[in-house]
Amino acid sequence: MNKIDIKAVVQEKYGLAALRSAHGASSCCDPITSNLYDQEQRRQVPEAALLASLGCGNPTALADLQPGETVLDLGSGGGIDVLLSARRVGPTGKAYGLDMTDEMLALANENQRQAGAANVEFLKGEIESIPLPDHSVDVILSNCVINLSADKDRVLQEAFRVLKPGGRFAVADVVTRGEMLPEIRSSMGLWVRCLAGALDENEYAAKLQASGFEEIHIEATRIYRVEEARSFLSGQGLDIDAIALQVDGKFMGAFIRALKPRIVAHD
Ligand SMILES: C[S@@+](CC[C@H](N)C(=O)[O-])C[C@H]1O[C@@H](n2cnc3c(N)ncnc32)[C@H](O)[C@@H]1O
Repeated sequence: MNKIDIKAVVQEKYGLAALRSAHGASSCCDPITSNLYDQEQRRQVPEAALLASLGCGNPTALADLQPGETVLDLGSGGGIDVLLSARRVGPTGKAYGLDMTDEMLALANENQRQAGAANVEFLKGEIESIPLPDHSVDVILSNCVINLSADKDRVLQEAFRVLKPGGRFAVADVVTRGEMLPEIRSSMGLWVRCLAGALDENEYAAKLQASGFEEIHIEATRIYRVEEARSFLSGQGLDIDAIALQVDGKFMGAFIRALKPRIVAHD
């Protein structure tokens, strides 16, 4: 799998997912993507944004967003976390979504229109090369996207670059705990399902630190047991019974927090 292959396959899969959502089909429900938002949050966004939700956590619920802040959601998909953030940061704040897939951007723009959110902007681009200036964002959000990137170091360096000093990284992602079977790691089908590209939790923390972040915390929000793994690993030619012990409790939905230091020696 090379980086270009991965990006093209990811784009194709999520382009199709966006088209399905645009026709009223739900993107959810597997053990990773289901039941992420509470009733109050569900009321705050158009139904189509909820149907298009493909995250693995709820970063806006955990991120402590404040009025007037600028938020950037990496891989914003149908826009649910951008629209929720826009309400939290209010009219004096701004919520950006960044996505590389045209069909997702079209869906997100339609959802913004339906929500009547004026302080929202969806940008086309790649999370490995964020189209925003240095020190322009208070909070980086992302929901189940960084695992999809073939160049995670670059994504974290870009997140660091665009954050203001003291800015927060508040991301939901799939991470692994311990060694993962090579047949899972090498499966393109499982990469686009947000599994094969997931970083080990310690490696994630090390990469954040190497990018300059501090106060790094990774907390499991959902730990997937073998019965759940059975549903999301299916259809890839794996004998789940034979590998049950190696997958049980090894994949997690996690909330990953870190800070950009207020004083950065070499930025
Ligand atoms: C699993 S979906 C998550 C969407 C959204 N965050 C949510 O919670 O519903 C992944 C999204 O990330 C986008 N994406 C994946 N890799 C990307 C990259 N390298 N640059 C920009 N967008 C990317 C896809 O187009 C897709 O919309």
